[in-house]
This record gives sequence, C-alpha cells and structure tokens, in this order.
Amino acid sequence: MGVLLNMKVAVIGAGSTVFGELFGRSYADLVLEAVKECLNSVDKGFELKEVEAIWLSTAIGTLIRREGCISCEVADTLRLYNLPITRVENACSSGGDAIRNAAFAVAAGIYDKVLVIGAEKMRDVPSRDTVIAFSGELRHQWWHPRGLTAPGWAALYAVAHMNQYGTKEEQFAEVAVKNHEYGSMNPKSQFKFKVTLEQVMNSPVVAWPIRLLHCCPVTDGAAAVILANPEIAKKYTDAPVYLVGTGLAVDSFYMGWRESYTYSPAMVSAAKQAYKMARIEPKDVDVAELHDCFSPVEIMLYEDLGFCPKGEGGKFIEEGLSRLGGKVPCNLSGGLKTKGHPIGATGVGQAYEIWKQLRGEAGKVQVNGAEIGLTCNWGGPGSIGVVNIYRRP
Ligand code: COA
Repeated sequence: MGVLLNMKVAVIGAGSTVFGELFGRSYADLVLEAVKECLNSVDKGFELKEVEAIWLSTAIGTLIRREGCISCEVADTLRLYNLPITRVENACSSGGDAIRNAAFAVAAGIYDKVLVIGAEKMRDVPSRDTVIAFSGELRHQWWHPRGLTAPGWAALYAVAHMNQYGTKEEQFAEVAVKNHEYGSMNPKSQFKFKVTLEQVMNSPVVAWPIRLLHCCPVTDGAAAVILANPEIAKKYTDAPVYLVGTGLAVDSFYMGWRESYTYSPAMVSAAKQAYKMARIEPKDVDVAELHDCFSPVEIMLYEDLGFCPKGEGGKFIEEGLSRLGGKVPCNLSGGLKTKGHPIGATGVGQAYEIWKQLRGEAGKVQVNGAEIGLTCNWGGPGSIGVVNIYRRP
C-alpha cells in the first residue's frame, strides 16, 4: 500500500461555537458562527470568497431532522454557490474523516484553500431518539442486535477490560474527574462543573459499569478549519500548524464478530497508518484529543494509540500520565465528556483545540512547548477509527 510520506497541509484558521444545548440557534446559525470565527482567526485575514471547496461533516442531524440535501443548506447559509461541497458521514469519525479527505485534495494539488465544517444539531429531539437512531436501530440486517445503544457497547468493552486486565471502576471514574476539571476551564464546553471521584462512582448506572458521569452528553455545536497548501499559507499566517499524518480503518459493526472486546482493531490500524505517514512514534505525541464518548473508551485509547502497553490504561490515568504535566496530556479541552459530542462536529472541534495548543494559545491548559498533537475519533462500537496528527514547524 502506498503511503504519502511527505504529507504537509497547513491549517491556517480554526473556529468553534460553544457546544451545548443550543435551542435558540439553528443548524445554519451554528455553521455561520463557526465559519465566522474561523475566518477571523486567520492572522493576516481571509475572505470567504477565497474558499475553493468545502468538506461538510454532519453525521446524524439529517437523520433525526429528516432533512436531506444538507450541502445546499450550507451553500445557502454561506451564500457560496457553484463550489464543490462534499458531505462526509462516517459515524462519530465523520469530523476527522472530513479533515482527512479535504487534506488529501490539498496535498494532491487540486485545491489551495479549502474549508472543513463540522456541524450537528442533536438536542431538538429527546436523547433516546438520537442515540437509538444512531446506534443502528434503523438497520435491517438480521444479525443486528436490537436495543443495544452506545452506552451498552461501551459497557461490553469496559467489562471485558476489567476481566482481562483488572481495570477498576475507580480508574474509569478518574477519567471523568480529569475531563470535567479541564472542561470547567473551557469557554466552549457544554458542562463547566467539576466532579469528584465519589460523585462519579455514585452517579446513576446507565449500563453497568457505565454511569451517567461516564457518558458524553447529547450536544449541538459546530466547528470549522481552513486547510491550505503550505506555500500559499505563508500569505495568511506566520504561525501555521501542519497536518502531517492521517489514518482511517473500518471494522465490522457487529460486535459478535470481534475477536476481543478489549480494544478497537480499527483504531489500532488507523493509528499505525497515521504514525507511519507522520514519521513519528507514539512517544513523540505532546498533546492529544481523544474520543472519550464513555470514560472506559479513553482508557482503551491510551493503549490502542500506543501511549502505554496493552492492559495498562488504568494505571496510565491513575498515575496522572494523561494529565497536564504527564506523559501525554489528553483531553485538555474537557473531551467529549464535558465539552460535548455533537457527532459530526466533534473531530473538527478536536482539530480546533489542537490548533490552539500548537500555537501556544490554549491558556490555562497550555502544554508548554507542544510540537505534535493528535486527534482521534472512535466511531460506532469501535468500528471506525480515524487518527490525524498535527505538528508545528
Ligand atoms: N453527564 C452529566 N450530566 C448529564 C449528562 C452527562 N453525560 N447527560 C445529561 N446530563 C444531565 C443534564 O445536564 C440534565 O441535568 P439538569 O436536570 O440539571 O438540567 C439531566 O442530566 C437530564 O438531561 P437529559 O438530556 O434529559 O438526559 P437523558 O437522561 O435524556 O440522557 C444520557 C442522559 C447519559 C442517556 C445521554 O446523555 C446519553 O445518551 N449520552 C450518550 C450519547 C451517545 O451515546 N453519543 C454517541 C456516542 S458513540
């Protein structure tokens, strides 16, 4: 398989709405707000009319709102007509995948300046309608497990990890405590409160051992980034961040066909591809935004991404190695747990957070001297892994 070993696509701007229950704002409002902030973030100025193509990540919004032709809605919102707008839907990995595909088009020399938008409006229906719709209740394969929603998937992994490696419920809870602490400092996050270990351990059970305070919420939000050819980027900024590696892999949706519930083979494969392309190793990563849709998943991701050996994810959080000042600070934005999980916007929102970190603009949660940042999305029941790696010059 060919690997593009000199991938280098500049990220010259990034913006995001606040994530949360945004009943007063429509899908179009969210798109517009994220794009405006993104355009304004470009150091030397950038006009919307300079955009040559758009990649749009919206995973679930059209399903729950029963609306199609969403790319036309974005064209109308931005009043940008007769440009390519490519909609990407790859479950919870949609945002990371949209950036990946937009980056390929720039790296191939097809376009010099493209916009990636991630947007999702999920709160207009009750939580159960979003989660059930997305977890496959609408599928018609005979083998598809009916009624198993996302917290149930995560519970299967969590129990297997506990049985195989002795991972403790307290260690899952530590992830939530960490992410609530960092999220409380993020002006863009849905939840801005801290929680104690006891509060997490005593929160209501959703699907044991997954408790309420292990779950990401259901969220509205949008984020946007501008990608550019590195030569052209000099016109727009003296402080670009480069996308230097990307990987994507898809596994079966059906968990009965998995050899193990303790890891995601798709994520392991996506990480290998991304590290190879970026020519780095896991130990080189300075800061990461991980897909902690449920706290145990963050622990498995430490392992799948190679931040620690298999089975030692529980120890990794317990020893503070994923905290600010630790070996690989993870989810300093608050992660999906606290910042929120507007599915199609999540991966783009992670890129926004890493862009700030690599430019030294992350405020109280800044990792000093961060040079390499990683984002990942864990789609479906760990069946779609996408990893993107960014670095500053
Ligand atoms: N963490 C902390 N508090 C939460 C929360 C979460 N994940 N989800 C909801 N709450 C709080 C709300 O803020 C609200 O508090 P309030 O009464 O003080 O305003 C209260 O719980 C009820 O909120 P509501 O939205 O009605 O919750 P719900 O009971 O319908 O849903 C979950 C709770 C956990 C089931 C829901 O958040 C969920 O399904 N999360 C997972 C989403 C998911 O699967 N995404 C895809 C991942 S792959």
